[in-house]
Amino acid sequence: MYGLINIAIRDLVKSKFSEQQWDQIFKQSGATDAAFIRMCPGDDATTYALVGAASDVLGLPASEILQAFGEYWTEFTADEGYGPLLDAAGSTLPEFLQNLDQLHTRVGMMYPDLKPPSFVCSEIAEGSLMLHYKSGRDGLDDLVIGLLRGLGRRFKIDVKIEQVSSKEDTGLESVFHVNWS
Ligand code: HEM
Repeated sequence: MYGLINIAIRDLVKSKFSEQQWDQIFKQSGATDAAFIRMCPGDDATTYALVGAASDVLGLPASEILQAFGEYWTEFTADEGYGPLLDAAGSTLPEFLQNLDQLHTRVGMMYPDLKPPSFVCSEIAEGSLMLHYKSGRDGLDDLVIGLLRGLGRRFKIDVKIEQVSSKEDTGLESVFHVNWS
């Protein structure tokens, strides 16, 4: 994944934990400085190794690291200058979720090697919808849960997420029932 993702993991660890723990995670992951160049596409294996090493060093399950990372992401991208892109994606959670693929299409204009996920909304009702998440990658359902929590914070609403199915079982997509109030 692009360096931007690895930078966000580094910033999250440094701000919520410590520099020393970050140094340990960096060493243990086997990553090099090249993985932290914002616009450079890197191996997914490096990003997964960073999550694995963070789980080890911080003594937290990888699922918690991914959720915390997802929750941090919207705030991080807004601080990194992508605020207008986030604003353009919508002013309510359902609008924003329906525009996620368009958001990544725009991101792809700056990051030409982007391999973005795909999100489709169904059963859209007052205060709830089903979110279908497709990706060529595995094991990132918890990242999506964290991202949805972070978006709840962005829109100042209480979001409840129930995972209905996982790509790990269906081989196709993961589905989340999203409720908000
Ligand atoms: C302006 C804001 C955003 C930017 C700049 C951005 C950019 C990126 C980048 C660079 C990647 C790595 C993919 C690669 O390197 O091939 C990525 C992946 C991803 N993004 Fe975004 N993104 C943004 C917002 C969001 C939001 C709000 C969500 C909420 C659901 C989201 C969901 C994901 C997921 C789940 C992945 C993991 C890749 C996968 O599932 O295959 N992104 N994004």
